[in-house]
Amino acid sequence: MEDGTERWLNHYSSKQQILLVGEGNFSFSLSLARAFGSAANMTATSLDTHEELRKKYGTEAVANVEALKALGCTIMHGVDVHAMSQHIDLRSKRYDRIVFNFPHAGANVICRALEGFMITDNQVLVRGFLKNAGEMVKEDGEIHVTHKTTHPYNMWGVETLGREVNLCLVKEVPFFVSYYPGYVNMRGCTMNSDSTFHVGNASTFMFRKV
Ligand SMILES: C[S@@+](CC[C@H](N)C(=O)[O-])C[C@H]1O[C@@H](n2cnc3c(N)ncnc32)[C@H](O)[C@@H]1O
Repeated sequence: MEDGTERWLNHYSSKQQILLVGEGNFSFSLSLARAFGSAANMTATSLDTHEELRKKYGTEAVANVEALKALGCTIMHGVDVHAMSQHIDLRSKRYDRIVFNFPHAGANVICRALEGFMITDNQVLVRGFLKNAGEMVKEDGEIHVTHKTTHPYNMWGVETLGREVNLCLVKEVPFFVSYYPGYVNMRGCTMNSDSTFHVGNASTFMFRKV
């Protein structure tokens, strides 16, 4: 693995500088890092502090973080996608890929049943992510948002949100959790944050700068 050979897992390569944001239990990052070995050039981040991570997801998430560190990945906590382009440890870096899987602004107990319909809050989140990511991605880099494509999630208008911040959709490809060994997608910011959810039809939306 340390011989300079390029390793791939689906759209991602060990030669790419990858920034992952909005991680849940860090299992997606770890899936990539394990495929890349110690050649990984990854920074994996979450909105949660280390303490919140432990409380929400328990020891498995902490173990995932430790495994990522052992593979040479950078881990950052408390990274808000609305402000990440100004983050002191991120603002001078440029990335080949910036990835946010299943962005969600959260839902409390009362609106849990309606979470897919909380469109405005979620559009604000995705637009904020795309705007910041557009300032951090290399000229030929890509920004990836993985999102459900069924109703009501398709009403978020992910492609339009990209256009609003000068990004163009270059590709939309079907997403399957099984493509990423060990990845367990998490609710994260809704009640039962430590449980997974059914993905169903979902796509990775790939954007580039206009
Ligand atoms: C449905 S969960 C998906 C978690 C993880 N990406 C996965 O695929 O398992 C939504 C995630 O969005 C994150 N999130 C919500 N608002 C955020 C923000 N402003 N900045 C960074 N992450 C945010 C939550 O912390 C949560 O981890």
